[in-house]
Amino acid sequence: MDIFYEMAAAGHEQLVFHYDRATGLKALIALHDTRRGPALGGCRSRNYSSESEAITDALRLSRAMTGKFAVLDLPYGGGKTVIFDLGTRGREEAMKALGRAIETLRGRYGTGEDVGTSPQDMGWVAETTDHVWGTPEEKGGDGNPGPATAAGVLGGIVACLEEQFGSPEIEGRRFAVQGLGNVGFELAKSLAQRGGRVSGCDLDRDRVTLAAQTFRFEPIDLEPWIETPCDVLCPCALGNVLNPDSVPRIQAKIVAGAANNQLADEESATLLERRGILWAPDFVMNSGAALFLTTEVSNPEIDKLALVEARIGSIVKSVLQRARRSGVSPRHAAAALIAEKFEGKSGAPYVGQDKIEKSPLLPSDEDRL
Ligand code: NAI
Repeated sequence: MDIFYEMAAAGHEQLVFHYDRATGLKALIALHDTRRGPALGGCRSRNYSSESEAITDALRLSRAMTGKFAVLDLPYGGGKTVIFDLGTRGREEAMKALGRAIETLRGRYGTGEDVGTSPQDMGWVAETTDHVWGTPEEKGGDGNPGPATAAGVLGGIVACLEEQFGSPEIEGRRFAVQGLGNVGFELAKSLAQRGGRVSGCDLDRDRVTLAAQTFRFEPIDLEPWIETPCDVLCPCALGNVLNPDSVPRIQAKIVAGAANNQLADEESATLLERRGILWAPDFVMNSGAALFLTTEVSNPEIDKLALVEARIGSIVKSVLQRARRSGVSPRHAAAALIAEKFEGKSGAPYVGQDKIEKSPLLPSDEDRL
């Protein structure tokens, strides 16, 4: 793997290989673009089959974070931590070591929860650095960002319904959710509470049972999820669900969910467009957590989750309108929006400061509250 070639191709600024002598922790921190502010992005921990797989993940995920903060119009850039090996001293010590590594970047990077890490982990990271979000609620932190992501996806779905069917009404529409984890469960529940006819599946049977016990929900089989006759398919489990094999089998008019990297390739994107299926760009749909964790509302009367739902709804709506007016796909419209946020920026990277400040989150006229 030619790492400098990969970094230059996607405009990455810095890739830090961190090895902790005391614990044996091996972690990578990728900083994609700090021209708009410090690089923020969660910490992923999973079994990578090779170092190059971990590097590719860190580079790809940090770049996606830059896009998220640009569409959110927040003064941050994209970063990501990938844990390659937790070492030999246990999870708590590994997370404290990670905090020390983050501290060496002197405010150029801040982390949070991601696949394979939890608020508890972030609580340990917080013992050695202030540059961390999503620590446990009982310690005064923001806790699990899943509900915020689900709120954003809900807002985005409403915008998609309006664009595709001319009405934002959830009531009576049919939704099929893949993955009933942190995000998918909350999303399915909210859709059902608003009168949607919700079906779904999960590899974990207990999640399906819990959904059926908690709200109006129809369990469906795992395999032909993609073929479910419905209005909206909501991928909330895995990446690559939209591929040349699956796209021709879709019966829904909208695909809108939280899963990262839903599109396997360019061919699948083109196929969706040709079939007239509205695909809401995943990195916009699932940016509710990024918005929730990096902002604060000054007025305690404001329901922050409702504001996240409204804001992501407005952003998705403006991306869809822009796509329609320019005759391009929503993903191209989102890419153009991101490019605009960097217009006139010099090439200079952000120089860290001791504290990474949260941004104010205020309702705006465009919010669909
Ligand atoms: P999670 O790990 O809590 O839930 C994922 C669920 O999908 C699990 O219950 C798992 O059993 C199920 N699953 C896995 N493979 C499946 C399959 N083939 N068919 C059906 N179910 C399957 O993850 P979480 O936090 O709910 O995230 C869901 C997706 O959203 C992921 O792709 C994640 O990267 C993305 N995302 C999550 C955010 C968050 O705030 N949690 C933020 C942005 C993106």
